[in-house]
Amino acid sequence: MAKDEPDLLKEAEKVLKNNDRGKWIMPAGELYPHQWLWDSCFIAVGLRQLNIERAQTELRSLLRGQWANGMMPDMIFADVKGASLDRILWDSATSPYAPHNIDTSGVTQPPMLAEAVLQIGKKLSLPERRTWYKEMLPAIIEFHQWLYRERDPSKEGLVTLIHPYESGLDNSPPWVAELKARGIPLWVGAIDKLGLGFIVNLIRRDVRHSPANQRMSNVEALAFFAALRRLRRKSYDSKKILNRPFLAVQDLVFNCILIRANVCLEEIAKVAGHKLSEDLVTNMRRSQTALDKLWDEPTGQYYCRSFVSGELIKEPSIATLLALYAGSISQEQAKRLVELIKKSRQFGASWPIPSVPLNSPYFEPFKYWQGPTWINTNWLIIEGLNRYGFDAEASQLRERTLELVAKSGFWEYYNPLNGQPAGAANFSWTAALTIDLLKT
Ligand code: GLC
Repeated sequence: MAKDEPDLLKEAEKVLKNNDRGKWIMPAGELYPHQWLWDSCFIAVGLRQLNIERAQTELRSLLRGQWANGMMPDMIFADVKGASLDRILWDSATSPYAPHNIDTSGVTQPPMLAEAVLQIGKKLSLPERRTWYKEMLPAIIEFHQWLYRERDPSKEGLVTLIHPYESGLDNSPPWVAELKARGIPLWVGAIDKLGLGFIVNLIRRDVRHSPANQRMSNVEALAFFAALRRLRRKSYDSKKILNRPFLAVQDLVFNCILIRANVCLEEIAKVAGHKLSEDLVTNMRRSQTALDKLWDEPTGQYYCRSFVSGELIKEPSIATLLALYAGSISQEQAKRLVELIKKSRQFGASWPIPSVPLNSPYFEPFKYWQGPTWINTNWLIIEGLNRYGFDAEASQLRERTLELVAKSGFWEYYNPLNGQPAGAANFSWTAALTIDLLKT
């Protein structure tokens, strides 16, 4: 490693301190000024290693945004200059369930909350742990119940997402492929064809802070915006939206995280002495085997599935490896996924693990979720590898991840071929998960 570990730890702490807004930490300076759902969960996982109370505060702050129906929004908007457009675009007040005293987005993000709550609890004494779990349990239960009630209409144990932002991997190939299959709105294509891409910059903050070739394309950004408008028109009402779905995907990453989150929830409830409702337990049990429906034997991979066509979206991405984190697949399937990590044409890059396999036509080393290596997905996969007993592979990935951060700094993502950094600098979850990897 270029820098020794104590330095890395201190620098990581500094990143978090600079991004700290008091009771919650923003992902990165000007580019991401709000509180994000899964970011804060990753941040809390790292913070628990340094300051358990601050880690608890981070998660408590997330509960401010929970909707009356249980939905946890992906963003809770900060009142800062230059970011008011977000709240106007989302206009969450259009839903009767949105909180009155705070503005949020109208969609959710992967349910990492239960994992973060559980991991913090493990650092506490038993009586404190019980109190902590009792405090957080109702919000987690309501969130998971909402997911099953409103997003699993056919009771398959698979939750359906209605916007790419909900997956956390915004423009990853399966979502872009599905978007194209459903039809990019004519006006989006027209703006692109007429070379009026600059108009898009009015609603995009990202390209003002990072080179455009490191972000999603204008067509993708506009199509995402069009999808958001459709949801807003239906007041973010899942029932109405899924009755006549336009863009709806049984997302692999989200469901893998949900499966693990259910295990965490059960453990939290047990320690808190709370009996989960039969209905919720039935839904959770269905999820345990639901990944079978997303498995494709010929290619030996898991995929997302279109809720509209009912077909697997066979665009390989890092999502398949997250099945290791879910923990509900067989040892044999886990072994096949580990082989993919090692193959140089697949995920075996010099600076692993690329968000898209190297042999995918989508692969571009700097392009957001279409190639770069991200630290949060590495962290999830390390957890999964450990769970299935691939200790050597887990510790190798841990080492390489720390080397990458030591070499290039705390960035949003990295070129998997040469380790060059990209996206936003001083990125909070990169810092927090580095702390966690150093301390475990
Ligand atoms: C981007 C990422 C998303 C993350 C957010 C804030 O939108 O795709 O996963 O939560 O930035 O960091």
